[in-house]
Amino acid sequence: MEARAKRLKLAVLISGGGSNLQAMIDQAEAGRLHAQIVLVVSSNPEAYGLTRAQNHGIKTAVVDYGKYGRKNLPTITRSSLPDHFGDLVERQRIYSGLPAHRLEDRLARLVLAEQEIVGLLEPLNPDLVCLAGFMRLLSPFFIEHYCGEGTYRVMNIHPALLPAFPGSHGYEDTFSYGCRFGGITVHFVDEGEDTGPIIAQAVYPIWPEDTLDLVKKRGLELEYALYSQCIQWMAQGDLLVEKAEDGRPRVLILDPDYPRFMEQLTQQSFARNPI
Ligand code: GAR
Repeated sequence: MEARAKRLKLAVLISGGGSNLQAMIDQAEAGRLHAQIVLVVSSNPEAYGLTRAQNHGIKTAVVDYGKYGRKNLPTITRSSLPDHFGDLVERQRIYSGLPAHRLEDRLARLVLAEQEIVGLLEPLNPDLVCLAGFMRLLSPFFIEHYCGEGTYRVMNIHPALLPAFPGSHGYEDTFSYGCRFGGITVHFVDEGEDTGPIIAQAVYPIWPEDTLDLVKKRGLELEYALYSQCIQWMAQGDLLVEKAEDGRPRVLILDPDYPRFMEQLTQQSFARNPI
């Protein structure tokens, strides 16, 4: 393990099975990931990831988004929203094509749930918030708490080679499009949906006889290895975000081992699936 790595305080947001969370826990316990998971928050009370965390003595919480749905909360009072809600509406980039009143309503419900999450995270002061199969959009309200000018403290794993196939069906979309290669992306989160600066990507082959299940399995193995490695790079201070000439933020990986790590990962992903 890198001597210069700081022990990162991680908050992990999940919605389901939590196999990526499990990989982080395993890597941290094995001493390969210099991080402590201080809280796991699930948007879904039934998520198996909660049990995974509890099995390892990690604190968990549930923020049930259903509570803020129209059925359980028919109207929203303005006083329950932040004072700058109007500004959040102006800035948001996650909803499009909705009439103004519907957009505001959707955003308001999201912000109510996020206020609850931020309230849980605030006293723990995490260095990084990791989304690991968190199937909810994040509004600018959440992002502004953890990201500033050139600073990104929310990371996500996405099951496709962004900018291809954003959204919630990365493997399905890759497979049904007939791609010959699939991929995964670890990126910082910004105010758009799956648009934040890319940290690292890995690819796997899709052979003619493959099924969607096989493709998912291959991709998930890459997810487990790459996500923890990206968090470890952050702990080592090896991730730098700079502005490229076109104004877009670009992530530099300073670890001299980066090419070797990627080469090994790619070789493994191809070697298991010879033609
Ligand atoms: C993973 O494949 C992850 O990349 C994906 O959900 C799965 C969660 O699995 N995330 C997204 O699609 C986010 N848009 P897990 O709960 O077993 O880690």
